[in-house]
Order: sequence, then C-alpha cells, then structure tokens
Amino acid sequence: MMPGDISYGLIADGALAIEDGVIVFCGPEAELPAIHADWPQKDLNGSLVTPALIDCHTHVVFGGNRAREFEMRLEGASYEEIARAGGGIVSTVTATRAASEDELLATALKRVDTLIAEGVTTLEIKSGYGLDIESELRMLRVARKIGELRDITVSTTYLAAHATPAEYKGNQQGYLDEVVLPGLELAHAEGLVDVVDGFCEGIAFSTSEIAQVFDKAKALGLPVKLHAEQLSNLGGAALAASYGALSADHLEYLDEAGVMAMAASDTVAVLLPGAFYTLRETQYPPVDLIRKHDVSLAIATDCNPGTSPLTSLLLTLNMACTLFRLTPEEALAGVTRNAAKALGLDDRGMLKQGLRADLNIWDASHPAELCYRIGFNPLAKRYFGGTPCVQ
Ligand code: NIG
Ligand code: FE
Repeated sequence: MMPGDISYGLIADGALAIEDGVIVFCGPEAELPAIHADWPQKDLNGSLVTPALIDCHTHVVFGGNRAREFEMRLEGASYEEIARAGGGIVSTVTATRAASEDELLATALKRVDTLIAEGVTTLEIKSGYGLDIESELRMLRVARKIGELRDITVSTTYLAAHATPAEYKGNQQGYLDEVVLPGLELAHAEGLVDVVDGFCEGIAFSTSEIAQVFDKAKALGLPVKLHAEQLSNLGGAALAASYGALSADHLEYLDEAGVMAMAASDTVAVLLPGAFYTLRETQYPPVDLIRKHDVSLAIATDCNPGTSPLTSLLLTLNMACTLFRLTPEEALAGVTRNAAKALGLDDRGMLKQGLRADLNIWDASHPAELCYRIGFNPLAKRYFGGTPCVQ
C-alpha cells in the first residue's frame, strides 16, 4: 500500500455471484461458497468492478437549448438578471410547451444514452419546464417512457414549483393554487411521481410557498427534496430537513445550522459541480461542515439546458474532486450508495449480498481512475439487474 492509500472497500481477488438479478455473494474469490462452484462463470481478468452509477439529480427532459443565454452570460449578464428579464427557466418552458411528447422523448433519449454509455443504470428525471398541468404531466410521462425504453431505472420528480410562468407573473399564490398543487394530485393519481421537489430561491419560491407544496406531498404520502441555498441562504435546507427530505441539492450558501438540520433528519447533501462551474460560482458548498456533521454526500450532473448542460457523470466526478476537493472515494460514494440514498432506493448502490446486480466493469484497475481522467470513458460493460447490456 502507498502512503495515504484509501480502501474504497476494494476486494483484491474478488468474486460475485448473481441470481435472478440480485447479488447473492460478493467477497474474496477464496471465500466463494461451494454451491456456486458449478454455476456458469465469467473471468473478468482482474478488471475493476463497481456498483453501476446513479445520477440522482437531472432535468434531461426539455425543449430547445440555451446557447444564446450562454453568450449573454459571456457578455456580462448574470443568471439572475437573465431570469428576471424573462429568460432562463421560463424560456425553456416556452420551448418545452411547444414540443410534442415524441420530440421531448427523442431529444431526452440522446442525453440519456450519453449518460448510459458511461455506466448509469439509475437516473432521476424532474419535470419543471412545463409549468402548466398538461405540460408537467407530459414531461413526467416522457420520463416514465425513458425507463421503459432503456435498461435503466428512472425515478421521477415533480418540480412544478421550479419557476412561475409568465401567465402567473405577480400571482405566485395563484400559480401554486391552480397549477402546482392540483397538478401534483393529478400526476400522483396517474402514477407519475416518485418524489416532490421545489426551487427555494429569491428568483423562485419562498420557504412558506415551498411548505405548501411539501404539505400536499406529505398528504399524498410522497417523499420530498429541495433545490436549496444555490444563490442565497433562505433556510431552504432546514425547511426540507423539517419534512424529512431525502435530499437538499446545490447548497453553495448552506450554513452550519442548515447542515446540522440535515444531519438530524439524515437528509443527503447533493452537490452539483456542473452548475457551479457553468455559473462561475465563487461561493463553495460547505464540504468541511458536511463532513464534520457526517451528512451523506452525493453528486449529480444536474443536466439541464441553463445552468448545467452536462451529460457526463464521469466528468462530474472529476469536477467534484477538482472544484470541491472531494476525495475520489467520496465522489464515487456520491454517485453510488449516497445517490441511491438520495433517491430513497435501498436496493442498490453497493456491491453487497441482497442488492440489485447493477454493476459496471471498467478498463481500469483502481477506482481513482474513474475520477481523474477528463473526457475519457473506460466503461467495458454495464449490467442492469444482472443482465449485460448492449449499451
Ligand atoms: O438545478 N436551480 C434550479 N434549477 C436548475 C436550473 C434550471 C435552468 O436554468 O433551466 C438547476 O440548476
Ligand atoms: Fe437542478
């Protein structure tokens, strides 16, 4: 072992046994139970095997793109100025409303396939660019369809409380009463919602408005999560924690009280280095406080057309280490077991007996290789529920 070597829970000469899509043994080959001796075997020649990757925060379903806004930011406009001038999220809403279900599906699949090609088997997908009931439901139907068309699990998130559409400008409460809350009931009745999310921010919704959405989620028995403390500290993470949220996401402006609230409710901190990078944010998420209070840390692409047009979870690993100084071990836990926790999925995220056999085989020999390269994909094979996938 080299000085400073970290274990990652690595097993040097390991063996895995899989039955009916589930891991029934994972450990040193020398300890493989005799009952598996005559099972069909595959020698992986010492390749690195990890749990498959989980992207626990994405907005991959949307219409259009925001390259013009990218130019405007390069000319000096801030994200908040663009949003207040009717650009930002609201401009993607116009393009999303105009797109058919088939168009949304086709464009989202390109992004999803790029993620899959790097070994993603579980993907969270949010609504939030429809902002009327029918368009929100359409986005969620597309998300469900993606889960049917590809060898992945899709976790859907209702995010109508993402922005206020133009027709409700100045009438945020009207938007909540007439769209967000009744839309949630309808989407839930159609089986389209796994988790409920909101954007708690000066340019979006206040804590008391988010509380209305969370109360409705609670009444329907749905778990919640929150975009919190991205551009300012409104106490969103503490609010989310008070509802037992699965995760609070972004968190650049999170303070110690917020971290402690998250620790008390076991809410996962999801960091999104793609948005930090794209917005050239200078406020760093409080990683040391998150460590100090033992809050689980996940990372995700936040793939979206405005603040994180990023479809690489491997690059996200690199960014989390380089920008946020996460260790590769923390970053990898952030796209496997802690990402599973952020989605409330306790059947995946580790190579462990009894969990789903969602795993990746890499042309690599050490886990840190997955974090350190930029723009290189070492995936050799992806297994989804024990089945080797073509893509
Ligand atoms: O996660 N923070 C809010 N929502 C997105 C941005 C969406 C957009 O600008 O289109 C995010 O960063
Ligand atoms: Fe987001």
